[in-house]
Amino acid sequence: MRIAIAGGHGKVARRLTRRLTARGDDVLALVRNRDHVPDVESDGATGAVVDLEHSDLDTVAQAITGADAVVFAAGAGPGSGAARKDTMDRAGAVLLADAAYVAGVRRYLLVSSMGVDRPDDAHDDVFRAYLRAKAAAEEAVRERDLDWTVLRPGALTDDPGTGRVRLARRVERGSVPRDDVAAVLVALLDEASTIGLTLELVAGEDLVDAAVRAAGRGEPGDGSADAVVR
Ligand SMILES: NC(=O)c1ccc[n+]([C@@H]2O[C@H](COP(=O)([O-])OP(=O)(O)OC[C@H]3O[C@@H](n4cnc5c(N)ncnc54)[C@H](OP(=O)(O)O)[C@@H]3O)[C@@H](O)[C@H]2O)c1
Repeated sequence: MRIAIAGGHGKVARRLTRRLTARGDDVLALVRNRDHVPDVESDGATGAVVDLEHSDLDTVAQAITGADAVVFAAGAGPGSGAARKDTMDRAGAVLLADAAYVAGVRRYLLVSSMGVDRPDDAHDDVFRAYLRAKAAAEEAVRERDLDWTVLRPGALTDDPGTGRVRLARRVERGSVPRDDVAAVLVALLDEASTIGLTLELVAGEDLVDAAVRAAGRGEPGDGSADAVVR
C-alpha cells in the first residue's frame, strides 16, 4: 500500500510511518518544514513539503496522487491559539479530504479526539475551540464521498505501546500511548469493515487487531480481552 500522512513529522505520524515501512508499505510523509524531510526519510518515508494552511487544493491533490489512503495526523499543537485550531485542525483536515476526492484516493483516516461531542466540558477557550474544530472536521469528512474512518483517541502519552486497547463507538475517558494509536491506525487501514465508523480509543485489554475487527463487526467492545480474542 502507499499511504500519505499529513502532519508527517508529528509524534503519532512518525510512529505510524515506522510501523508501515517496517512491513513494506510506501509512506509519503507530508511535512510543512523542509528541515524535517531527513527525519521522515530516516523512518523510511518519502518526504514532501506541503503546508496545509498555505496550500491550494490542486497542490495537495497532486502531492497525494497515487496513494491508496491518506491519514490526517496533523494538528496545530499545544501553544497554538483558537485561530489555528480553525485553520489547521478543521480546515487542514477538510482540505486533505477534498484533495483526496480530487486525487481519487478513497480511504481517509481522520485522527480526531475524544470529547469533540462535549466541547463545553473543555477547561479553557482554546481547548473548546480545538474540540469544535475537530467536530467540524469530522462532520465535513463524513459528508465527503470517501471511505472514511474517524478515530478519536483519548489523551495521548509517550509511554511505550502495550498492543492492547479499548476501541468502540463509545468508551470511558482515558489516555492512550501514541504507539498504540499508530498500531490501531495500521489495523484500520487493513480493515475495510471500519469504513464509515467513528471510534473512540483508550488504553485497554484487547489486542489491537482483534479490537479493530470487533469494532468493524459493530461489537460493543466491553473491554474484556476474552470477548474479542477468539
Ligand atoms: N495531544 C493529545 O492528547 C491528543 C488527543 C487526541 C487527539 N490528538 C490529535 O492527534 C493527532 C496527532 O497528535 P500528535 O501528538 O502526534 O501531534 P504533533 O506531534 O503535534 O504533530 C502534529 C504535526 O502537524 C504538523 N502541522 C502543524 N501545522 C501544519 C500545517 N499547517 N501543515 C501541515 N502540517 C502541520 C506539525 O508540524 P511541525 O512539526 O512543523 O509543527 C506536526 O508535525 C493530532 O491531530 C492531535 O490533534 C491529540
